[in-house]
Amino acid sequence: MRLKGKVALITGGNSGIGRGIVARFVAEGAAVAIVARNAEKGQAVLAEEQARGADAAFFSCDLSVESEVKAMVADVVARFGKIDILINNAGVGGRRAGVEDSDPPGVRWDKLRGPNLDAPWFASAYAMPHLIETKGSIVCTSSTATWHGNWGTYGIAKAGVEALVRSFAAEGGPHGVRCNGVSPGWIATERDAEAPPSGGGDWALPPSAFNRMGTPAEIAAAVLFLASDEASFVTGQTLIVDGGLMVLDYPSMDMLKDAGPGMMSANR
Ligand SMILES: NC(=O)c1ccc[n+]([C@@H]2O[C@H](COP(=O)([O-])OP(=O)(O)OC[C@H]3O[C@@H](n4cnc5c(N)ncnc54)[C@H](OP(=O)(O)O)[C@@H]3O)[C@@H](O)[C@H]2O)c1
Repeated sequence: MRLKGKVALITGGNSGIGRGIVARFVAEGAAVAIVARNAEKGQAVLAEEQARGADAAFFSCDLSVESEVKAMVADVVARFGKIDILINNAGVGGRRAGVEDSDPPGVRWDKLRGPNLDAPWFASAYAMPHLIETKGSIVCTSSTATWHGNWGTYGIAKAGVEALVRSFAAEGGPHGVRCNGVSPGWIATERDAEAPPSGGGDWALPPSAFNRMGTPAEIAAAVLFLASDEASFVTGQTLIVDGGLMVLDYPSMDMLKDAGPGMMSANR
């Protein structure tokens, strides 16, 4: 058990990758604060984890609203007494907002920047004093979308997350606080509707070098390493966990156009 005695605050823990992180962290002995907006889904995850003996609680919070994040961090510390690990995983996908591309740029920007970049900024800033007390660590979820120009505001916000990782690593280092990131490729989660089905459909492109999508458990394994003491000399890094997607030959824009609606992200 690599996280015995640790308290982990996991954002987006009621769904997808975050759900996988919650499960793995509980299995490794951590007490977990599950944070998201949807209380019904949050309570369902909480019940499942408590049924297997977890010390856990759910906190409903819109992470893009500073006052809510401030109150949530205080509530987590009141409930658990400390924070050892902050997992900034919550976020919303790019093409979800793409269908609303008639919105003015400011509206589109707010929709993607709020949950994807404001959220980890607020949570890291408010958790930092508590992480300094425990000499804790932060792990943020970015995306391989940061490397491509066709993800619009989503890719821009996620690139900000990777800069945030380096910034908090530099600031936290002298206090013994580490900050790292994982950059997932295509992962099979509730966001599947936006993703390419392995092996075809409208998509001719493989989702990874293994021609399959990754799983939340595979992201959770990388997050666990970075959050744990095994990564005691690793900080300021973002680890790509994409099944080799980024080492494949990048498709031409013509292929992207042929690949179907959505890929030429309209939400710039
Ligand atoms: N799946 C992929 O292929 C993939 C690839 C690269 C990166 N990522 C990143 O991985 C992270 C998790 O994605 P996922 O695939 O697991 O998506 P998901 O299943 O849709 O989960 C997203 C989570 O974020 C929470 N969330 C969204 N907006 C929030 C807000 N304003 N305040 C609080 N919580 C909020 C959601 O909970 P509520 O709706 O209840 O608030 C949910 O728990 C995201 O940051 C995503 O950008 C995913």
